[in-house]
Amino acid sequence: MHVNGNQCPQTSICHSMTSRKLSSRSEQLSPFHVMDILAQAKALSQQGREIYHLEIGEPDFATAEPIVDAGIDALKQYKTHYTPALGLPELRAALAAHYDRKFSLSIDPRRIIITPGASGALQLAILCLLDAGENVLMADPGYPCNKNIAQVLAAEAIAVPVDADNNYQLDAKSVSQHWNSRTRAAMVASPSNPTGTILPRDQLASLCRFVEKKQGCLIVDEIYQGLVYENDDYTALEVSDECFVINSFSKYFGMTGWRLGWMVVPEFYVDAIDRVAQNIYLAPPTVSQFAALTALQAETQIILDARRDEFKKRRDFLLPALEQMGFEVAVKPQGAFYIYANCHRFTDDSFSWVKNLLVEQGVALTPGIDFGNHLANIHCRFAYTQSLEILQQAVDKIDAFIRT
Ligand SMILES: Cc1ncc(COP(=O)(O)O)c(C=O)c1O
Repeated sequence: MHVNGNQCPQTSICHSMTSRKLSSRSEQLSPFHVMDILAQAKALSQQGREIYHLEIGEPDFATAEPIVDAGIDALKQYKTHYTPALGLPELRAALAAHYDRKFSLSIDPRRIIITPGASGALQLAILCLLDAGENVLMADPGYPCNKNIAQVLAAEAIAVPVDADNNYQLDAKSVSQHWNSRTRAAMVASPSNPTGTILPRDQLASLCRFVEKKQGCLIVDEIYQGLVYENDDYTALEVSDECFVINSFSKYFGMTGWRLGWMVVPEFYVDAIDRVAQNIYLAPPTVSQFAALTALQAETQIILDARRDEFKKRRDFLLPALEQMGFEVAVKPQGAFYIYANCHRFTDDSFSWVKNLLVEQGVALTPGIDFGNHLANIHCRFAYTQSLEILQQAVDKIDAFIRT
């Protein structure tokens, strides 16, 4: 036994804590500030306070019944063994049929890789595209885990500030300004978390052209596909076959806890991804894959579309209500279930402001700081993953808070 490199003198059992060490990559991972908010919300609710959860990034609806039944059937049939690392062939084929039905696209099922959530796909993408020390460009504000995944895998994430004039999305100009000799990829999410904005088709096309010219790769996160309210719900695969397109059963399909996603990649990468997936997690969850077959069926999609319509009603209620109170939302969120609002009229320290709002009125939001640094201190995110009734009560509480 060694303590700081010295022999432990008396005993072979050493109780000293000093030999424990965290890897610097895990130590450097930044925590989510919303976790503080969640902990406080929990403490307040244990004291009997009513809490309005507008910080939660997952649908409030339980997984649709036909999907749950399919999961139960799979278990009853003891479909409990590993599947191939790239996923169940039937599900890969069903997703190819889904692209054909929804977007009239013919995608070879071999290019469709089933993953443990979009999170698993994002890790595979970074592992297959970037070496240590290379970098990937991403929007600020953006989904916080992307930066952390890159960092933990020894790559670097370069934050590119985005604003209302580019729809809070990367474009060829901003990407060209940040691209350097160690850049291998750029990453976008459409609709975006936290802004709910969509990358316009022509903006995506010029972004693809720029990245391809640089012999890099564009990673397009389409996890909120299906939760698009009035715009045309397209896929980047209509624009280019060279992108890595990431998707998930979490959001539109309402299966967050089933941990299932997928990724469509150029044929060239499939074997490498197979090897990486085999070694990192062996296979995506089997029962979830069988359940997902039912998620893709037309009868289930009727239920899921009705839920999408409900999200739209909530957005159509919450957005004007926030604007009336003095929050500014420069681009109307067209998808996902978030509103990223500028709260500069009330604070220049949105993290403290969000904490005070929770303590005083019981409304939980996510502070801008969780999505990057660019103007983060004057923004916060509202998730409309609650019923209209709860949203109305939350709005009254926020109104009372800003009036005091
Ligand atoms: C933009 C974005 N990408 C990826 C994920 C990860 O989703 P999952 O791993 O549940 O599929 C999330 C989750 O909130 C997200 O908002």
